[in-house]
Amino acid sequence: MKARINGVDIAYDDHGIGYPIIFLHGFPLNRNMWAGQISALLSAQRYRLVAPDWRGLGDSELPGDISTMEMLADDLAGLMDHLGMQQAVLCGLSMGGYAAFAFLRKYAQRVGGLILADTRPQADTEDRKINREKVAQLALEQGSEAIADLQIPGLLTNDTLQHRSEVVIRVRQMINTASPSGIAAASRGMACRDDSTDLLATITCPTLVIVGEHDTLTPPGIARNYADAIPGANFALIPQAGHLSNLEQPEAFLEAIRTFLLTSF
Ligand code: MLT
Repeated sequence: MKARINGVDIAYDDHGIGYPIIFLHGFPLNRNMWAGQISALLSAQRYRLVAPDWRGLGDSELPGDISTMEMLADDLAGLMDHLGMQQAVLCGLSMGGYAAFAFLRKYAQRVGGLILADTRPQADTEDRKINREKVAQLALEQGSEAIADLQIPGLLTNDTLQHRSEVVIRVRQMINTASPSGIAAASRGMACRDDSTDLLATITCPTLVIVGEHDTLTPPGIARNYADAIPGANFALIPQAGHLSNLEQPEAFLEAIRTFLLTSF
């Protein structure tokens, strides 16, 4: 499905009836990364499960050369308006988590619950900002496949890279089909995101922090620390998973979110 949100065609999936849960994908992937969680939760018949493609990624339109986390947050608020949702649980992985923090800063009353997976509240370091522009240039000059080659080793565990070709192929396919200009815009948008550590102590909704045991991009130590700073937050470590914990260990990820949702919603 598509909706015109803030002047941009935003693609999204919308299944089921019940308390809304919105799945926010990582960089440079698309809403398809959540297909397993959505089909499993649909059978519970308790939730409305929505997954948008961020502007410039998946099937959503790209209106400019930067997609800031505030723009993503505004698109999400617009999509919620379009769908008639006042409040939802936001489940964001990595860049999806950065956008969830931006949304929380602006629209805290609309956040009924938070699932923050393989993400971090801190802004980029200066080195990382410089690297983001290099990633943007690489995408524009050499295309999405060069980005897949660059990113995939950091997204998955060695075990998955060596022995689970179906997972690697799925991730590669999502990155290969992303538009180079959409990748560049998102990379630039992440570089200028705000630091959200000041928000942690103000979070009052039920929150679950998830991290893959072998996530090197947003390591478990960082996740544990920021979970401790959120009042009452739950924490789940996913064994034998790297950064894309929901794709590498879908059952453990599902178990963590199912338990959290059942106790809170
Ligand atoms: C993601 O998975 O969204 C990215 O790895 C986030 C990042 O590069 O910081």
